[in-house]
Amino acid sequence: MSAIDTTAASGRTGRAVSLVCVDCGSTDQDLSGRCPACHGLVDAVYPPTTAALEPGDADALETYWDLLPVPHRASCRIAIEPTPTVLLTELDGVPIWAKVEGVLPTGSTKDRLIAVSLPLLLERGVERFVFSSTGNTAAAYAWGLQHYPELAARVYVSEDVPDAQLGPKTAQMEVVRVKGDYVEAGNRSRAELRPGEVSEGGFFNLGRREGAKLAYLEAFDDVARAGGRIDTVVQAVASGLGIVAAARAVEQSEAVRGWGRGPRLFCAQQTSCSPMVRAYRALLAGTGERLPEKLPSGLAAAILLGDPFSSFDYVARAVRESTGNFVDVTSSEIAAALQRHNREVPMGDSAAVALASAYRLWEQGDLRESEGVLVALTGGPGR
Ligand SMILES: Cc1ncc(COP(=O)(O)O)c(C=O)c1O
Ligand SMILES: [Zn+2]
Repeated sequence: MSAIDTTAASGRTGRAVSLVCVDCGSTDQDLSGRCPACHGLVDAVYPPTTAALEPGDADALETYWDLLPVPHRASCRIAIEPTPTVLLTELDGVPIWAKVEGVLPTGSTKDRLIAVSLPLLLERGVERFVFSSTGNTAAAYAWGLQHYPELAARVYVSEDVPDAQLGPKTAQMEVVRVKGDYVEAGNRSRAELRPGEVSEGGFFNLGRREGAKLAYLEAFDDVARAGGRIDTVVQAVASGLGIVAAARAVEQSEAVRGWGRGPRLFCAQQTSCSPMVRAYRALLAGTGERLPEKLPSGLAAAILLGDPFSSFDYVARAVRESTGNFVDVTSSEIAAALQRHNREVPMGDSAAVALASAYRLWEQGDLRESEGVLVALTGGPGR
């Protein structure tokens, strides 16, 4: 695999980054994140770096610039200030660290995703992109687009999502309300693509995944500086993009290299909408059965994705290779996690799914040998 060394005008990165399809191995890729040959997932491969977060750093994109696939620094117009990594509690002596993403400008980790996705869209020459959202990604793009007047978007959102979830109204982003759930919103967003428009790609969007990775790079560096060690990661999943991003951060983090073996990755869902949990159990049991959730429901609205099976295989692979697992929690476990900790850190229902899952893992004995757990609190109140 040779490093791509062409100019940004070709839509590729001019830096020491190679783009490779994880399914067919082709390195003939643009910056979209989806392989033109096989429609597989395209990842960025970087030479080793020693990038690490230092106290006082004001922009994660600057700190980890060597680990981003954006051709030109000047295309990045949104700075992402590092968010706190806090020692939330100890369970039988096992430190539970929380990455507090609710402090970001629109209250969720999605701000990082769009801070990397927007420059890549710009550098690809996209003028108008189309996507679907459960609310938080829409709010993040609505906010971020003000820094990219060259770009416009159309987002498809279920009619069940309240207006307030979608962030500021802006002429740069058209909102289409869809009868039905997030799956239906995704279907419409693809079916109604017009000439000159580009599908943003969702899970397959390279910028989104590389942006999501930053939260984990920061957290691993923070915990290492505090003298801790993370061997277990828990995040709430819808498509599983965040967990796949965590796997990339594990490979690329200086801190994790010092720890040796990478952390186990755990995907958390609410029992009332847990298609990935069920599909993973079916994989382990050898049936391989995959059943979409026809009527997704539950407290954590941001992660209500009933049919995650376009991304599931990538997520399951990352989890299996890490020797992690999938875990689901009930509404009362979610409420208990909120009640325990929402005065200490800003946390919404999806974040609480992850935190409740950490408690569940502890109760199940899965943290018995652990030296440290990182829980991604992906959204603040209402997110
Ligand atoms: C707050 C929050 N947490 C977690 C997720 C999970 O997303 P994914 O599994 O697609 O990374 C989302 C997605 O919308 C979210 O908004
Ligand atoms: Zn391919």
